[in-house]
Amino acid sequence: MVVILLGPPGVGKGTQGALLAEATGAKHVATGDVLRAARRDGTALGKRAQGYMDRGELVPDQLIIDLVREVLGDLPRGVDVVFDGFPRTVPQAEALEGALAGAGRRVDRVIVLEADDEVLVKRMAGRRSCPTCGAVYNVHFNPPKQEGVCDRDGTALVHRADDDPATVRHRLDVYRRDTAPLVRFYEGTSARMVRVPADRAVDEVQNGLRKAVA
Ligand code: AP5
Repeated sequence: MVVILLGPPGVGKGTQGALLAEATGAKHVATGDVLRAARRDGTALGKRAQGYMDRGELVPDQLIIDLVREVLGDLPRGVDVVFDGFPRTVPQAEALEGALAGAGRRVDRVIVLEADDEVLVKRMAGRRSCPTCGAVYNVHFNPPKQEGVCDRDGTALVHRADDDPATVRHRLDVYRRDTAPLVRFYEGTSARMVRVPADRAVDEVQNGLRKAVA
């Protein structure tokens, strides 16, 4: 099964995608995480993506499409995939349709996670991430055991540069302009679309996702 998690910044795509992948054995493909790892490793892709990410802009489509083709090419044939943060534009969605069709596959579910802006802004203001292992915490909702330190590996947690309030507002605008139109795009395909309210406890949202893929 190929599942797409669609929703605005901070709605919980990463949190829910990781849980869904763990529960179903699917591969979790989060383009934001891949780009942050590329930046950490100082690769050419990371250097090209850096400025766009820090400004809250989308990285150019062709870079992302090449990146996802590479990830898909490395996966065992037929493995289930949960996409998080991809596609984000109509050209990316069209490229994914083409890549999947070439492998005799298609998008099966589009899960649209929904929450009001004030919920998203509070979540992103409180988010702290581990620069070593990528674990995500929240000072309000899911704090680490020791303040400012990753439970898994003891690394000092960071506040993402693109989580400052002005950049968050811009990311929300970019979402509405470039990514929200994908709802209409997928309404015109055979994928089943399921809307899941995401302004609930993590477990409750996860139950909504599990029902959507059952
Ligand atoms: P990306 O990392 O994909 O950012 P995003 O889509 O803006 O999403 P976020 O990571 O901000 O939030 P999320 O929905 O995953 O929420 P999370 O689970 O962390 O992309 C970053 C940048 O990379 C983009 O701006 C762009 O530049 C570039 N990029 C990436 N993909 C691209 C693409 N396809 N095309 C072009 N450019 C691309 O949760 C947020 C917080 O809330 C956390 O602290 C979490 O602990 C907490 N939380 C989660 N769920 C709950 C809950 N139910 N209750 C309370 N707290 C919760």
